[in-house]
Amino acid sequence: MKLSRFLFALLPLSAAAGRGSFRGLSHIATEIFSFPPTNPIFIENILVLPDARLLLTSFVHFGPDTNSPLHILNPVTSSVSVVTTLPNSTSQTGIAKLSGANRYAVTAGILGDNFEFLNNTVNVYVVSLGWKASSATVVDTIPVPGVISANGLVAVGNVVLSADSRGGRILRVDTVTRTSSVAFADPLLFGDPANVSGSLGITGVNGLFLKRHGGQRWVYFTNSARGVYGRFKVNSLGHKVGSVEVLMTATSDDPVGFTNSLDDLVVDGDADGYIAWQDRSLLKVKRYNNGTTSQTVVLGSGGVATGNTGITLRTPTSVALGLDGGHIYVGTGGAVAGNLTGGQVVKVTI
Ligand SMILES: *[C@@H]1O[C@H](CO)[C@@H](O)[C@H](O)[C@H]1NC(C)=O
Ligand SMILES: *[C@@H]1O[C@H](CO)[C@@H](O)[C@H](O)[C@H]1NC(C)=O
Ligand SMILES: *[C@@H]1O[C@H](CO)[C@@H](O)[C@H](O)[C@H]1NC(C)=O
Ligand SMILES: *[C@@H]1O[C@H](CO)[C@@H](O)[C@H](O)[C@H]1NC(C)=O
Ligand SMILES: *[C@@H]1O[C@H](CO)[C@@H](O)[C@H](O)[C@H]1NC(C)=O
Repeated sequence: MKLSRFLFALLPLSAAAGRGSFRGLSHIATEIFSFPPTNPIFIENILVLPDARLLLTSFVHFGPDTNSPLHILNPVTSSVSVVTTLPNSTSQTGIAKLSGANRYAVTAGILGDNFEFLNNTVNVYVVSLGWKASSATVVDTIPVPGVISANGLVAVGNVVLSADSRGGRILRVDTVTRTSSVAFADPLLFGDPANVSGSLGITGVNGLFLKRHGGQRWVYFTNSARGVYGRFKVNSLGHKVGSVEVLMTATSDDPVGFTNSLDDLVVDGDADGYIAWQDRSLLKVKRYNNGTTSQTVVLGSGGVATGNTGITLRTPTSVALGLDGGHIYVGTGGAVAGNLTGGQVVKVTI
């Protein structure tokens, strides 16, 4: 929400300054949960349920079997449990709420080398989980053949759009007709063409976030290899309308690479983006009415958040908006110099 100029003029100066500093300038960060090093789950994505609990997808499953666990976290009690497992998968990526009651879509598959899935192992799992339920059920498994990456996920009704990081394209899976197709490819979604052999160089489109503004649906995205944050418009059936736009290219002293890449994102009610910036930061991208952007590190080196003494983000991967819109959750992989120490969930006021 933005104060209109008119309302701003009516407020006493102190109240206006106080609200301005709360909404715009300061952020309070609190680590609410961390997996222990003895069970170092790499959190890949977070979905906030209507009952305020969090579903956590995990990227690396170390079990001997191929039933990757889907976790649920109560942010108030910090208790975590496995709500279900996804058969025939070792690694989960995107998660999105479908329009059917209690229905969620998760992409997962068998992880191969180089952060790629083995070809023809990716599925969209449809999971049913009721209000405050302690366990979930996999109600459908829809194959997505011919792909080796399926990353960020958004739902438009019962259609999901998945970021194919390697293919530089958006996949479209209809969970009702159980069909999958390539929605479109775009150079702005493709990795760095100058470095397609590097494992980061081929990670193009990564995070996706669906946001409605003025009756229009926008899919915001990050492209890791290019450091790009952008968006494209979709219609009510999830088909792209118009072209892909770049809103910002992140600036950094360090070259884009594994330790410096944009991952998942959210866009808040002010149209400000919050992006998990590996391997240590939470980035805020402010967009002004004149179309320009500015970037601020919220948490991490040079960050502006308070209350974060002692919190070091360990490979931030994911961001989710809290139900009241006043805070976000940041999920991390827990990787430190290649060692897994346990993913964290950090709450940050916005
Ligand atoms: C796992 O995959 C195998 C081989 O594709 C298939 O036969 C089996 O039904 C799958 N299991 C489940 C639980 O979906
Ligand atoms: C995946 O398998 C399909 C056939 O099922 C093939 O057409 C495609 O080229 C393969 N993709 C990769 C990246 O190997
Ligand atoms: C290509 O990407 C790899 C990481 O995936 C990086 O180590 C390497 O420096 C990159 N090379 C160029 C030319 O950008
Ligand atoms: C756009 O607006 C911002 C915020 O008011 C301002 O700081 C910036 O200088 C403006 N840029 C241009 C190009 O007008
Ligand atoms: C990572 O783990 C290895 C093996 O346990 C250890 O030798 C190394 O010091 C660890 N590195 C860091 C940065 O903790």
